Amino acid sequence: MKILFYMPDTEAAAWLREFAHALPEAELREWQPGDTQSADFAVVWRPPREMLAGRADLRAIFNLGAGVDAILALEREQPGTLPRNAQLIRLEDTGMAPQMAEYVTHAVLRYLRRFDEYQTLQRERRWQPLDPHPRETFTVGVLGLGVLGAHVAQTLAAFGLPVRGYSRGARQVEGVTTFAGEAQFDAFLDGVKVLVNLLPHTPDTANVLNARTLSKLVRGAYLINVARGAHLVEADLLAALASGQIAAATLDVFREEPLPPDHPFWREPRMTITPHTSALTLREESVAQVAQKMLALERGEAVGGVVNIERGY
Ligand code: NAP
Ligand code: GLV
Repeated sequence: MKILFYMPDTEAAAWLREFAHALPEAELREWQPGDTQSADFAVVWRPPREMLAGRADLRAIFNLGAGVDAILALEREQPGTLPRNAQLIRLEDTGMAPQMAEYVTHAVLRYLRRFDEYQTLQRERRWQPLDPHPRETFTVGVLGLGVLGAHVAQTLAAFGLPVRGYSRGARQVEGVTTFAGEAQFDAFLDGVKVLVNLLPHTPDTANVLNARTLSKLVRGAYLINVARGAHLVEADLLAALASGQIAAATLDVFREEPLPPDHPFWREPRMTITPHTSALTLREESVAQVAQKMLALERGEAVGGVVNIERGY
């Protein structure tokens, strides 16, 4: 089994060691520009087009993340980039679901218990108890009920908060009121106090966090975007903060990353910004899952996490 590896800004040697441990029989190499030698599997994050284009030998491409938008953008920009016979397989959880649940729960509880406002009061040396938000109307709406969204929604429901979830097809998640499809989108939004975005970035979901969507939430709502920057119309969020429709936002992902130093988000005190770190790709867990799937494919078995290229996730 020949494996080709590419992940920018990382120590490839540590990944290759981990793969060698999991698959002692495999021939492993880090892809370098100009390498067109044969391989059975590619393991990649944000690969350059040149690495994949025209490769008829690959049986599967393993994406070292949950989101496949970057790799599918290569295909959309230049159809035929992705090898026709290779399955595209993304990571399923591999330790990202608990990280995402920690991040989102922290943000939701911070707003529920008004820690963001106490932080401001502390800076002003003001001792001022605030009325608590009523828990029963502090409704959290989770966009996307996949591997990450369903886990986040269930974690929040365990705090006794009203939790809703929205997906493309109908889903059942214990403790969560679910909505599906465009026809139920407005009903999902109506009454939501905290909107959490965990949708994949596809042509259907781009710009979903826009003025219309934000206007359907409860006045003074909160936004938590942990999916992709392309979901958010940035000017619409700034306008909603200015009007008071949105009280505060926690953003982990941005249209341009790193967020440029002169971006207006940095100057907005009601914005909490983190550098795309809500759920990191964990090496050990990811290699274990990918290696297991490679062995299953070698045995001719089906594996989970296969991306539907037409659907975009
Ligand atoms: P997933 O398992 O594929 O789940 C996607 C969910 O979104 C599914 O419930 C799906 O509906 C729903 N969905 C897709 N298109 C939709 C549409 N047009 N309308 C309504 N619902 C739609 O993905 P995941 O593993 O949970 O990951 C979600 C995203 O999180 C990734 O794509 C990535 O962008 C982001 N992410 C971010 C970080 C970070 O560090 N910030 C880390 C990991 C992942 P169905 O259930 O009906 O298919
Ligand atoms: C990270 O953003 C991922 O998609 O895994």
